[in-house]
Amino acid sequence: MSSDTLTAMTRKRYDRIAPLYDLMEALVERSRFSAWREQLWSHVRGERILEVGVGTGKNMPYYPPGAHVTAVDLSERMLERARRRAQKLGLKVELCPMDVQHLTFPDDTFDAAVATFVFCSVPDPVQGLRELGRVVQPDGDIWLLEHVRIDRPVIGTLMDVLNPIVVRIVGANINRRTVENVQRAGLEIVSVEDVSGDLVKLIHARPGRP
Ligand SMILES: C[S@@+](CC[C@H](N)C(=O)[O-])C[C@H]1O[C@@H](n2cnc3c(N)ncnc32)[C@H](O)[C@@H]1O
Repeated sequence: MSSDTLTAMTRKRYDRIAPLYDLMEALVERSRFSAWREQLWSHVRGERILEVGVGTGKNMPYYPPGAHVTAVDLSERMLERARRRAQKLGLKVELCPMDVQHLTFPDDTFDAAVATFVFCSVPDPVQGLRELGRVVQPDGDIWLLEHVRIDRPVIGTLMDVLNPIVVRIVGANINRRTVENVQRAGLEIVSVEDVSGDLVKLIHARPGRP
């Protein structure tokens, strides 16, 4: 299947999930995700910040005060919800429909880029990560919070077997090797922290170019 077809399918899936997304995640959001989001955003520095795959805007409460945040997503339906959340929080966020695999920003536009639970659903994650490396300044930061494939024999294989079913239902791959993908995209890894066993990683990277 071509990358364009896979991207169109991802968009459609998230357009479909959008009305239920916050409800589906409500429990885990309250018990786990919100603390991890807060942890990630406590590290983010810079005036010009890009969030990719903003979804319904769940990171918005943690945006650094005074920062100029541009947030993009593939799904217009998810963005509609993000717009409502920004309005509710009284935040000025530039929200645009855009594919992280083909960002329309010039090189070195941002001081930092953030993605939370996004590269599990991007059809070509390495291309998307390469794009982050291009639009972030050479000494800027890339922060990712991602669930990844657990590299242990039984559970890893189980994740591989179940992956197609999970993708079909919720649009996310559960067996992505995101740390390796960051390296394959030519980014420099600064640190990788396990925030929930081997399953969820907080990854700090840099563009890895002079
Ligand atoms: C699991 S949701 C996470 C949303 C949000 N980051 C959060 O933490 O709640 C994944 C989001 O990534 C978006 N997405 C998937 N592929 C994308 C792409 N190629 N470009 C931009 N956004 C994408 C989806 O539309 C969806 O809103």
